[in-house]
Order: sequence, then C-alpha cells, then structure tokens
Amino acid sequence: MGKAPLRTMARLVGAPVRALVRRSPRLTAALWDTQYALGFWGYLDDTGGGEVPLSLIETWAPNPTILDLGCGTSANLPLAEGRHRHYHGVDISRRAIEAARSLDRPYASFEVADIRTYDTTRRFDAILLREVIYYLSVPEATRLLRRLPGLLTDRGRILVQIYDVQRSRQFVEVIRECALDVATRLPTDSDGGAAGAFFVLTPAAAPKP
Ligand SMILES: C[S@@+](CC[C@H](N)C(=O)[O-])C[C@H]1O[C@@H](n2cnc3c(N)ncnc32)[C@H](O)[C@@H]1O
Repeated sequence: MGKAPLRTMARLVGAPVRALVRRSPRLTAALWDTQYALGFWGYLDDTGGGEVPLSLIETWAPNPTILDLGCGTSANLPLAEGRHRHYHGVDISRRAIEAARSLDRPYASFEVADIRTYDTTRRFDAILLREVIYYLSVPEATRLLRRLPGLLTDRGRILVQIYDVQRSRQFVEVIRECALDVATRLPTDSDGGAAGAFFVLTPAAAPKP
C-alpha cells in the first residue's frame, strides 16, 4: 500500500482511538507511561525553555506558590531554593512523577492525578499548563480553564505554554469560551520564540455597571 492511503487510514483509525483513550483515565495514563518508558519525552528534560515561565511568574508574584498541571518530570524548570515558596507538580504518568521525585527539587511536592478532574483545597499564585492543553479535547480544555480560577490566590494567574506557535492560534478560540482575559501574550504575532507561545490568563474583569 502507498504512503497516502496509509496516512488516510491512520487518520481515520487514529481519531476514534484517540477519543477512546482520552475517555479512559487508565488508558490515558498507560499511554503516557509507555511513552515515558520508551524515552519519547527525554528530550524535553534538556530544553532550556523553563526559565521563561518562571521569570514571567515573578513579574506578578515574587516568591510564588506554583501548581504545575501535566508537569512531566519537571526537569526543565530551573527551580532554585529561594525562588519559589512551594511548587506542586501533577501528572497522570506515574513514571514521570517517579522521575520528578527522584530529582529532589527544593520546596516541591508531586502527585499522580488526571488534571481533567484534579481538585485541591490549596490556592496558588500561578497555575502552569506547559504543553499539555492540546492533549485534552476542546470541551475538556474549556471545562478545565473555567474552573482553574477557583484554585488561584487573589494575585494568581494561569500561564499556558504552547511550544508550537502555529497551534497557539487555535488556543485563542478556546480562551474566548472560558471567561478569561489575556493579560500577556508572548511572542506576539510578529515575533518568533524558541520556547513557544505563552498566555498569561486572569479571570475576566466584571463588566462595568
Ligand atoms: C508534552 S508533555 C509536557 C511535560 C511538561 N509540562 C513540559 O513542558 O516539559 C505532556 C505531559 O502532560 C501529561 N498529561 C497528559 N494528559 C494528562 C492528564 N489528563 N492529566 C495529567 N497529566 C496529563 C503527560 O503525562 C505528560 O507528562
């Protein structure tokens, strides 16, 4: 069979398989665990892009508490003592969280959970979603972004990082559905940007009477 029919078949089979996997937290976890076991995401640990989100957070919350949803191993975040009050990483992959714990990061805790249903009584100055939003369906991403403001402190903001700047344009449509304001967007449409696109989101301001 030629490449084009194979690609078409992969597309046809791929969409329902992805939808099925997404519906089951167990299958989603198994899929990510397998990818980590095969070393698919090892290259992320060596990327230097983690400085940008931490510097951005410091502009609105020095010494912040941070919730990192879909944290992976967290190895690419330069978490240094004295820079943050507490960092909590959440990921559906047990393997990623084991690797994260083995790094012995300062003032950090980790938890295995599905961010689509994750909840906590704690409140955070920054909630990170770094290269994870696209692994959720649009309704799932919308539901998550609608409830995250409830986990923020008064000064808290949500920071979404999307490594592929082209795909970030689609994300603007999702934000529109979520009663969130874009406080900062990097890079702007005219910039490049090695670490991808960043959106700093705040709960939408109440309309003036
Ligand atoms: C591309 S990796 C990004 C990891 C890390 N945020 C980074 O930027 O280096 C996506 C991560 O999202 C996690 N993930 C995907 N779907 C998830 C879900 N529903 N709940 C929690 N974590 C999820 C995966 O296990 C994986 O670690």
